Amino acid sequence: MDIYQLYNDLFQFMKTNRCNVWLDTLIPLLEHKLVEKPHGDQQRWLDALESLPSLEVEDVDIATSVSATGQVTDSQQAALEASLRGLMPWRKGPFNLLGVHIDTEWRSDWKWDRVAPHISPLQHRLVLDVGCGSGYHCWRMLGAGAQRVVGIDPSYLFLMQFEAIKRYCGPTAPIHLLPIRMEDVAPDLETFDTVFSMGVLYHRRSPIDHLFELKGALRKGGELVLETLVIEGKAGEFLMPKDRYGMMRNVWFIPTTDTLKQWLERAGFIDIRLVDLNQTQLEEQRTTDWMRYQSLVDFLDPADPSKTCEGYPAPLRATLVATKA
Ligand SMILES: C[S@@+](CC[C@H](N)C(=O)[O-])C[C@H]1O[C@@H](n2cnc3c(N)ncnc32)[C@H](O)[C@@H]1O
Repeated sequence: MDIYQLYNDLFQFMKTNRCNVWLDTLIPLLEHKLVEKPHGDQQRWLDALESLPSLEVEDVDIATSVSATGQVTDSQQAALEASLRGLMPWRKGPFNLLGVHIDTEWRSDWKWDRVAPHISPLQHRLVLDVGCGSGYHCWRMLGAGAQRVVGIDPSYLFLMQFEAIKRYCGPTAPIHLLPIRMEDVAPDLETFDTVFSMGVLYHRRSPIDHLFELKGALRKGGELVLETLVIEGKAGEFLMPKDRYGMMRNVWFIPTTDTLKQWLERAGFIDIRLVDLNQTQLEEQRTTDWMRYQSLVDFLDPADPSKTCEGYPAPLRATLVATKA
């Protein structure tokens, strides 16, 4: 994999603004992850990408969905579907590519519909989406008018899925996915106008450090959009699962919304607003033909779906919006 070919446009952009300092650490890190020590499945996924057929796209919609349309024959559509299935499991979406509907585990569009009405308009903004998965929301951010969107997510498979979508939805569009963690972003860039962290905070062993990292990436006056698991309760309370939460091994802290507000205040954010609170429904996260493993219904107590199988409160998600002072 040639990182200069993959990220040429992003590197050129980064040279011309404050991200310049980030390039010094980003390029060696990408070389290490994608070239020197690639993921064991990388070649298989690259083969799937290579096998994507060249098809003529007539129209792309990223304002109301993530879809590419055009005239294709049945055999072209079958070839496209076979290549995309080589990148299973598909978790975040859905995507519609030339008649192939990728029915992902998550209805990420539902989350976007809950979040989008409450954020500052994205027109002309430089946006960072931390823990972006396969980039579904990145496309919707671009569709909402962002100048450029950078998604970061350490999962290689998500990068491959993102590149497959990009091939049909905008090969030269100002949208990029870097297979890195938030901890790998150069500290205190003070560059992005809006930073999203959705579904990441509870995966972090040091959630307050995560908030400081997000603040460091924002310019002064920039906006943080934070979406995470919460529990009901008072300020100062949080849940730290004894072991797994909803069968996930990597869940560390689930605060109440008032605790989360305090964390944001202590991290130096102002104008903190809780804009959405949502109990995750079984229809929003489920097993599909494109993600055939277990899903939410298997992670809940069959006798009492208001609890996880470990007996904790079932997933409740809050979205907060805050400003960097
Ligand atoms: C629950 S998913 C959320 C995906 C998407 N943001 C959404 O809201 O649907 C969490 C994502 O965060 C990523 N992630 C975990 N730790 C991370 C870190 N330290 N930095 C950046 N991303 C991380 C995971 O790989 C995973 O794709």
